[in-house]
Amino acid sequence: MNEHDDAIAYADKWINIIKSPSIDEQTAKTVAKETVDNFVNHFNKGWVEYKKSVTESGEYAGTEWSGDGAVFQDVFGDKYLDFLGGYGALNLGWSHPEVVEAVRAQAGKSGIPTQELMDPLRGVLANLLSKIAPGNIDHSFFVASGTETVEGALKIAKLYTGKTTFISTVKGFHGKTQGSLSVMGKKDYRSPLMPYGSQNFFIPYGDADALDKQLEICEAVGIGVAGFIAEPIQGEAGARVPSDDYWPKVREICTRHGILLIADEVQTGLGRTGKLWGWITGVLFPILCALQNHLEVV
Ligand SMILES: Cc1ncc(COP(=O)(O)O)c(C=O)c1O
Repeated sequence: MNEHDDAIAYADKWINIIKSPSIDEQTAKTVAKETVDNFVNHFNKGWVEYKKSVTESGEYAGTEWSGDGAVFQDVFGDKYLDFLGGYGALNLGWSHPEVVEAVRAQAGKSGIPTQELMDPLRGVLANLLSKIAPGNIDHSFFVASGTETVEGALKIAKLYTGKTTFISTVKGFHGKTQGSLSVMGKKDYRSPLMPYGSQNFFIPYGDADALDKQLEICEAVGIGVAGFIAEPIQGEAGARVPSDDYWPKVREICTRHGILLIADEVQTGLGRTGKLWGWITGVLFPILCALQNHLEVV
């Protein structure tokens, strides 16, 4: 058997496991063991070394398999209550029947746009977002990850203001591509790849006066700031909720200094906090408002 045949046989084995409506104990053991082996040998052994679901789970690593609503189960049928919801990607819960039905129906027609003909569903999604986005935001662009949304926001802010510096918050998490890392407030992710293209500054999260002070300093020394980026509630930092007057103050300070305010809603958006957006209406995505409507910086 050459390597190519081996790959096809291995893919076939796994497609059969995926297609099977249930999983028996022997297959479950194979899945748990192969998952660890594959992570160690072909993905990233760090996951296996630090995850409690591996290190404290006994003979077989806790290996997720399926879910329903707020509960998911591992390959051996043990159930878990999911408080994380895919970092905001599973806001409707695991395997919501209406989502599954719609995805199945569309996958049976077409899995991806041609990029040549017009694809109707892209427009439908943009239209739907315009109906629920706050303020007068009526255009969207689509990307595949949170970090790309941050990249997009930083690029738009630079183009709109003609400035390159950003202010971000200590422990703020904005993604792991280059631009996002440049505003990342966590040393472990950020420092190995320094330096970044622009000169950015970091202030404590939840401290509006620190933002005011940093902007005064930048003005005094002639550094042009494009925008301030922060999460409505800091997620990766440990669900840190700022005081009620923080965002109104930040809004006022950004307006007074003429800089843009970027809300990173990757974790707080689309109902994750109990409201549709983590941000107060009228503050969200001011960059897009400004660019699309050619308003003064808001
Ligand atoms: C607030 C925030 N912004 C950006 C990101 C990056 O998202 P992604 O991992 O999809 O690139 C994350 C990821 O957890 C996040 O929590």
